[in-house]
Amino acid sequence: MEGEKGRVCVTGGSGFLGSWLIMKLLDHGYSVNTTVRSDPEHKKDVSFLTALPGSAERLQIFNADLSNPESFNVAIEGCIGVFHVATPVDFQDKEPEEVVTKRSIDGALGILKACLNAKTVKRVVYTSSASAVVVNGKDVEEMDERFWSDKDYIKAIKPYMGSYMISKTLTERAVLEFSEKFGLDVVTVIPSFVVGPFICPKFPGSVKTTLALVFGMYSFSISHD
Ligand SMILES: NC(=O)c1ccc[n+]([C@@H]2O[C@H](COP(=O)([O-])OP(=O)(O)OC[C@H]3O[C@@H](n4cnc5c(N)ncnc54)[C@H](OP(=O)(O)O)[C@@H]3O)[C@@H](O)[C@H]2O)c1
Repeated sequence: MEGEKGRVCVTGGSGFLGSWLIMKLLDHGYSVNTTVRSDPEHKKDVSFLTALPGSAERLQIFNADLSNPESFNVAIEGCIGVFHVATPVDFQDKEPEEVVTKRSIDGALGILKACLNAKTVKRVVYTSSASAVVVNGKDVEEMDERFWSDKDYIKAIKPYMGSYMISKTLTERAVLEFSEKFGLDVVTVIPSFVVGPFICPKFPGSVKTTLALVFGMYSFSISHD
């Protein structure tokens, strides 16, 4: 049964925000296509998604990976809206920054192309991050749309999560450029730390980090996966 409000796509359904969003969208009467990375060894449990109220009738799960941007095409076909939430999360910088950033940008632009091709997508919501705005060495109390994090500054100070900061900054810039060039309605959201209850099996990094700071466990807050 199709939801009365139409079908939307959420990328990164296995994650903290993606899974919460799916739950809320189902609750509000939408049909949802979500994407998770393929799992040939069947180690990942997606029963927390398939057990959600309304999921049997209105949730479809597809495999897609940002490393293969076209893999999102099928999940986006026929959707009225797309929430691009998935992102490479490599806080320990296991891969070179350039690799992470390329995957993030190519994946996001592939998703936007699929949205144009689908001809049904009215709006795309891209989840950016405060780390795309504030890491620029500028000593001001308030920052708005005019501010961007600075890749060279991040490279110079080498902060924890540096490659994530660069990938979020350059991906949001690429997403906004694409939307302007092709007239696609794209909204970017800039969360700082998202904290609260979660339905995914993995302990969300932002919740763990925040709790660690509350309990004074600074070294733990920067050492988790
Ligand atoms: N949580 C926060 O406080 C916060 C703050 C600011 C911005 N954000 C942004 O919000 C979004 C969601 O964050 P989150 O906290 O929910 O993170 P999360 O729980 O780590 O979720 C990230 C999602 O991205 C997927 N993903 C990673 N690499 C991928 C790839 N190569 N191809 C396809 N999917 C891939 C993950 O899949 P797997 O499960 O397979 O790894 C997971 O579903 C991100 O864009 C993040 O930058 C979050």
